Amino acid sequence: MKGQIILITGASSGIGRETAYRLAKAEAKLILTYNRGKARGEAALKQCRKLGAADTLLLQLDVMDNDAIAEAAREVKKKFGAIDFLLNNAGVGVFIPFGKQTLKDIERQIKTNFEGLIKVTRAFLPTVKKGIVNIASAAGQEAYANMSVYCGTKFGVRGFTQTIALEYPRLKICCVNPDETATRLSGFQGRPPAEVAEVIFRVVSGQVPCSGGNDVNVWEVI
Ligand SMILES: NC(=O)c1ccc[n+]([C@@H]2O[C@H](COP(=O)([O-])OP(=O)(O)OC[C@H]3O[C@@H](n4cnc5c(N)ncnc54)[C@H](OP(=O)(O)O)[C@@H]3O)[C@@H](O)[C@H]2O)c1
Repeated sequence: MKGQIILITGASSGIGRETAYRLAKAEAKLILTYNRGKARGEAALKQCRKLGAADTLLLQLDVMDNDAIAEAAREVKKKFGAIDFLLNNAGVGVFIPFGKQTLKDIERQIKTNFEGLIKVTRAFLPTVKKGIVNIASAAGQEAYANMSVYCGTKFGVRGFTQTIALEYPRLKICCVNPDETATRLSGFQGRPPAEVAEVIFRVVSGQVPCSGGNDVNVWEVI
């Protein structure tokens, strides 16, 4: 992975941050994005540089903001020309009964997990050389109570991924589906995020197949 240029959205925390560390150890060149967690993003950047990713760049990116996505794509193109992999990881979950979800809860999940992922993909596709890995979920394959909107977005991510894989057969395009992982999103319940990061690393480095929009289920790899 040495010298490969990889962009990770939502790299200031959880799975995205651990994936950045795993790739940094393999001396990839990283572009990390954070949204609200500037200090966490800066700490992740510092740690990546320490681990071996000397050329790491940190960007603020709210994937709900059309202008910010366009600006990030322009900046990355200017600085790097092209990227090898796009890892669409940024996501949020509101895990309460459907009837209790506010319009804001619903919009935030759809706009971040689904609409944002699609728009980031659209903006970066012309500069992606090798592939796109979308972080969906076990909740994108099976229904879970109190996760209605979240499940909807993740089922959608899988459908979108399978479809763009048909349209861009030259690229490696797939979903990595974590099950419950101990991050802020899950209330720190579940498997260590480093295990999910290891699976993503194996996908990006070609040790686990990624093509045609296939599902890579973390629990089947680790
Ligand atoms: N944890 C689990 O059990 C689990 C299971 C299956 C799938 N997943 C998926 O794994 C991915 C990573 O989640 P995580 O568990 O690592 O959660 P996390 O620790 O809460 O990290 C979420 C990341 O997404 C970023 N983010 C949130 N809203 C954003 C927005 N509007 N624009 C840009 N970035 C935004 C956050 O940035 P800031 O903190 O800087 O705002 C943070 O870096 C998500 O897609 C999630 O759905 C998680």
